[in-house]
Amino acid sequence: MAGTEPLRVGLAGLGTVGAGVLRLLAGNGAAIAARAGRPLRVTAVSARDRARDRGSDLSGAAWEADPVALALRPDVDVLVEVIGGTGPALAAVEAALGAGKAVVTANKAMLALHGAALAARADARGAALRWEAAVAGGIPVIKALGEGLPGNRITRVMGVLNGTCNYILTTMEKTGADYADVLADAQRLGYAEADPAVDVGGIDAAHKLALLAALAFGTRVDFAGVAIRGIGEITLADIRRAADMGYRVKLLGVARMNADGLEQRMEPCLVPAGSTLGGLEGVTNAVAIEGDAVGQVTMVGPGAGAGPTASAVIGDLVDIARGNVRPAFGLPAAALARPERSSVGSEAAYYLRLTLRDRPGALAQVATVLGEHDVSIDRMRQYGHRGTEAPVVILTHPTEGRTVSAALAGIAALDVSLADPVALRIEEV
Ligand SMILES: NC(=O)c1ccc[n+]([C@@H]2O[C@H](COP(=O)([O-])OP(=O)(O)OC[C@H]3O[C@@H](n4cnc5c(N)ncnc54)[C@H](OP(=O)(O)O)[C@@H]3O)[C@@H](O)[C@H]2O)c1
Repeated sequence: MAGTEPLRVGLAGLGTVGAGVLRLLAGNGAAIAARAGRPLRVTAVSARDRARDRGSDLSGAAWEADPVALALRPDVDVLVEVIGGTGPALAAVEAALGAGKAVVTANKAMLALHGAALAARADARGAALRWEAAVAGGIPVIKALGEGLPGNRITRVMGVLNGTCNYILTTMEKTGADYADVLADAQRLGYAEADPAVDVGGIDAAHKLALLAALAFGTRVDFAGVAIRGIGEITLADIRRAADMGYRVKLLGVARMNADGLEQRMEPCLVPAGSTLGGLEGVTNAVAIEGDAVGQVTMVGPGAGAGPTASAVIGDLVDIARGNVRPAFGLPAAALARPERSSVGSEAAYYLRLTLRDRPGALAQVATVLGEHDVSIDRMRQYGHRGTEAPVVILTHPTEGRTVSAALAGIAALDVSLADPVALRIEEV
């Protein structure tokens, strides 16, 4: 309940996000207190290295080496978990919820795997579990979906949800550099993890998509149901050829409820260059939500970083301070449906990248295979030839993904096919 007593915060994790939360409270504390109706006070903190300077005055906060002990302290009302991962972070969140305390977390990896169980635990004790910072950094998309749009039947949610991937794709386009070189630069600049697989493999973005889908469709989080493909196979030539045809390549997450179940995909797609999603540059994120009443709402902004993520954490804390509490995934955990997974998926046009032997009749063989699978060609371009190779791009008319996969297997088996063909979905946004 709101009141004049401070909301006592236990901050677990003092890294990029944790230090950002401390800085924001120090800088904007008075305004935040006025909006929350009471002050937010960090009463205790936890990290690994007690000696490290965090750039903020921590003299008023108790130190706990163990985040579980932090969560259970009597002078902590709310646990802010910004450690990451599923080890001590999960233990601390479980402890706090089990004790009936509110939790604010930025930890998408934990929620993607344990979100349904944690929501049930929160409900059982009447505790709040808030996670605005876990998806799209500073963009208040969870609040928009959960509180701004409940009058709608949500039909589709789309997102460019990993800044590192968008940085790599747009930098390749701008500089003409290859994927490997730009990835190495991103690592040097601190954008990509030392092990970049979580980013460029699409896993981080898929965590976020699974969370958005659960909230949008009233389902239990089903991360294992996300079809994931990273950006590692995207070449500069793909980016240039897509641009030629009016598209840009984005690592795009799409979730929609089809007649046969929930479709969740995180994969590199072509989107129209003139669209909001197509226009995104650098590390910027975007989420587009479609509802039957509202139409399409698109939110664009910084998807990571200390300031934007802390902004999202404080937004959740202010709600908790005011007593504005709702279930973690929009519905009581017990009411969340276990989603059927859509087996067919929605239709789309596809971009096909083929490398053919440069000889008469090669294209005719490809056209025959496509025809046999009922895949019809919208546009086709040959890009000169390199020695005996002829790079060819085909855009198809809308068709099912499994049909395209079958046709690609047929093309790969042709003796005129010199490299594995690649298909990228063209998402109408
Ligand atoms: N960085 C972003 O832009 C961003 C954006 C959105 C969401 N997130 C999420 O926010 C969370 C934190 O990310 P971050 O970038 O702030 O990570 P980070 O910089 O690596 O910070 C992690 C913090 O957790 C502490 N920690 C690690 N193990 C611990 C343990 N066993 N007990 C107590 N403290 C422990 C570390 O302590 P030491 O400092 O002493 O090593 C560090 O302060 C992650 O879930 C991440 O996915 C991050």
